[in-house]
Amino acid sequence: MKLLIIGGGMYVKGSQFNENGTIIPSIIESIKEKNIDQVGFVTTSNKSADECIKISKKLSRFLKVKINPKTFLKFKSNSKVSYKKAIKEFKPDATIVVTPDHTHYKICKDVILSNSNLLVVKPLSNKAKEVKKLVNLIKNRRKIYQVEFHKRLDEANLTLKKFIFEKKLGDLKYCVIEYSQKKIIPETFFKNWADKSNSFQYLGVHYIDLIYFMTKFKPVRVWAWGQKGYLKKKGINTWDAVQATVEWRSKSKKFFSYIITNWIDPNNSSATSDQKINFVGDKGRFYSDQKNRGIFTVSDQNNFSHLNPYFTNLNLSERYFFDGYGVKNIKNFIKNSKENKNINFNLKTLNSTFYESIISTKVIEAVNKSLKNKSKVIDIK
Ligand SMILES: NC(=O)c1ccc[n+]([C@@H]2O[C@H](COP(=O)([O-])OP(=O)(O)OC[C@H]3O[C@@H](n4cnc5c(N)ncnc54)[C@H](O)[C@@H]3O)[C@@H](O)[C@H]2O)c1
Repeated sequence: MKLLIIGGGMYVKGSQFNENGTIIPSIIESIKEKNIDQVGFVTTSNKSADECIKISKKLSRFLKVKINPKTFLKFKSNSKVSYKKAIKEFKPDATIVVTPDHTHYKICKDVILSNSNLLVVKPLSNKAKEVKKLVNLIKNRRKIYQVEFHKRLDEANLTLKKFIFEKKLGDLKYCVIEYSQKKIIPETFFKNWADKSNSFQYLGVHYIDLIYFMTKFKPVRVWAWGQKGYLKKKGINTWDAVQATVEWRSKSKKFFSYIITNWIDPNNSSATSDQKINFVGDKGRFYSDQKNRGIFTVSDQNNFSHLNPYFTNLNLSERYFFDGYGVKNIKNFIKNSKENKNINFNLKTLNSTFYESIISTKVIEAVNKSLKNKSKVIDIK
């Protein structure tokens, strides 16, 4: 089982706020479970590909995972198309695409055509036309194709889904979502590509996918508002904050979601992600503060901070291991790819995140269109 990772940034190998990233910890756990034999890294610079290998080896040693010298391979990474050579040489069985949003379409297309299983981080694309083309391309190919919408596996969200399913909220009326991240992310980590994205595309998209996943209502209309200033002054021409109202319908029923996003929170914020969801129906309300999960810490070394031990977490029990809904999602993809002969290839079940991406992408596209057109109301077909 050969796994290729395309991209070597924050989500793969971590940052000052997220020590080990999410992809590398999931790989180490999958090696432990004998679901991977070799891992290849390809990015756009040899430096980041080397760092990926260094961190992978360091974590393997720490977790006492046996690896042979050829477990981690680097492919010559010096251009935006180095990944093509890596695919050709390595012939991966499974590939994870973790590159900036605007590169997903082209890279995913090449991965699909290479006959590899594919997991891509969200959003699959910010253009509905591209998602449709990719969905057409995967039809009749007996492979796993998934978009890494890890919030579908967060127990807090699954509890909300159950409440909605059991009709404990009654008829849904509205939900308010607030999701923001620190300004260092667009300003420093995504400096090269933040102008091709915005806080709604980067953060809000998670909740569009989640609302669809939980309710099965479809988005029909969008209004969006945005504010520019801070990032523009830093030479990054994108919105500091975006708010969107989405109307959702199912037969004669409808509700509204109000999604408020920014990526200019203070770097001293007590968590990288500040997110809250409040769902209201005519029989009840469900409120979840996904930043304050009841754990905070402060020390001589660190400011006051809220911890989320349920996403990607290093557990120091008798045997050290990583787990959490972030890790679980990626491990599932790797395991499914390994076992893909026994899988029921139904686009609407196993590959639902890929197939259903058309919904979240249509909303991103409508929000971007509304922002460009003075907050015009945009209908979604
Ligand atoms: N950071 C997170 O917490 C997070 C979580 C979920 C999803 N994502 C998504 O993951 C993607 C990447 O995010 P990140 O935080 O790792 O970004 P990043 O800017 O830290 O890293 C991007 C990486 O992609 C590589 N890259 C760019 N173009 C490439 C190409 N043509 N071929 C090979 N490599 C290429 C760069 O070399 C870099 O290593 C984005 O789509 C983002 O929305 C990020």
